[in-house]
Amino acid sequence: MIHALPKAELHLHIEGTLEPELMFELAARNNVQLPYRSVEDVRRAYEFNDLQSFLDIYYAGAGVLQTEQDFYDLTRAYLLRCQQDNVVHTEIFFDPQTHTDRGIHFETVIKGIHSALQEGEKTLGITSHVIMCFLRHLGAEAAMHTLEMSQPWHHWIIGVGLDSTEVGYPPEKFRAVFAKARDYGLKAVAHAGEEGPADYIWGAIKSLGAERIDHGVRCEDDQQLVNYLAEHQVPLTVCPLSNEKLKVFSHLEDHNLKSMLNKGLLVTVNSDDPAYFGGYVNDNYRAVQAALSLTDDEIYQLVKNSFNASFISTEQRAGYL
Ligand code: ADE
Ligand code: ZN
Repeated sequence: MIHALPKAELHLHIEGTLEPELMFELAARNNVQLPYRSVEDVRRAYEFNDLQSFLDIYYAGAGVLQTEQDFYDLTRAYLLRCQQDNVVHTEIFFDPQTHTDRGIHFETVIKGIHSALQEGEKTLGITSHVIMCFLRHLGAEAAMHTLEMSQPWHHWIIGVGLDSTEVGYPPEKFRAVFAKARDYGLKAVAHAGEEGPADYIWGAIKSLGAERIDHGVRCEDDQQLVNYLAEHQVPLTVCPLSNEKLKVFSHLEDHNLKSMLNKGLLVTVNSDDPAYFGGYVNDNYRAVQAALSLTDDEIYQLVKNSFNASFISTEQRAGYL
């Protein structure tokens, strides 16, 4: 059933789709020295205690991405996985600062990603949007600089997001940059309530104007917030295998996805960084279905939510629901 249902993916970092095999291929192509001897060696290193222990390895891995062709190949490989999983629409994040801080031009990154997405729509029929994320740990000034740098490509970017280290970097710090992004006509989303408290979810909504919350699993700590999210149908892009790997929940059986769904929240299932967390979107659906005994109706609701929470047009949405 999971495979048969066409679905949308709304929480996916394109850098998080870098499989070890492609990492080695790009390292060889670009003469980059990797701290690993083999693909197996890389996979063995993917044991994380929390978000930060993952981010350290993840940002290092992105170092092999250097040319427009590299970003094209990365994105193309992800779209082929989408096809396998019957993902017909995807809204992908990219982290420009991870690349511009290493001397890679913004243009190189966006052109490679965009051309692969265009090709993917033509040859695979997969539609997409691109969301540019600011790295919290680099602060608001650097985010503002990145927003200005991105201006020539705003017609290829639907919105801005906020990711990286959460605790200690509350959304309020980024109020001005998000206000400016919204003035430019960009939509706003933000990672909040992954490791950080429910207050950060309020902050993302109230200070940043976030229309969608990435993760948001800590919302159940605040009943008023749950009521608000349910009443306003604020989408939460939940990533079960990510939450398990980064120890947001000790066991998938403890995950609150079913509980949030049963409270009427607009929750969706997504893969976050599938190359690092051991599964693409269908793997995430299958794992939570098994761990939480989700019924077919609940799976169908999650898939329906994926379109309702997306930024596709009403007409396109009507074709899927
Ligand atoms: N960047 C990539 N994956 C992330 C996650 N799960 N949380 C915050 N930043 C991220
Ligand atoms: Zn994420």
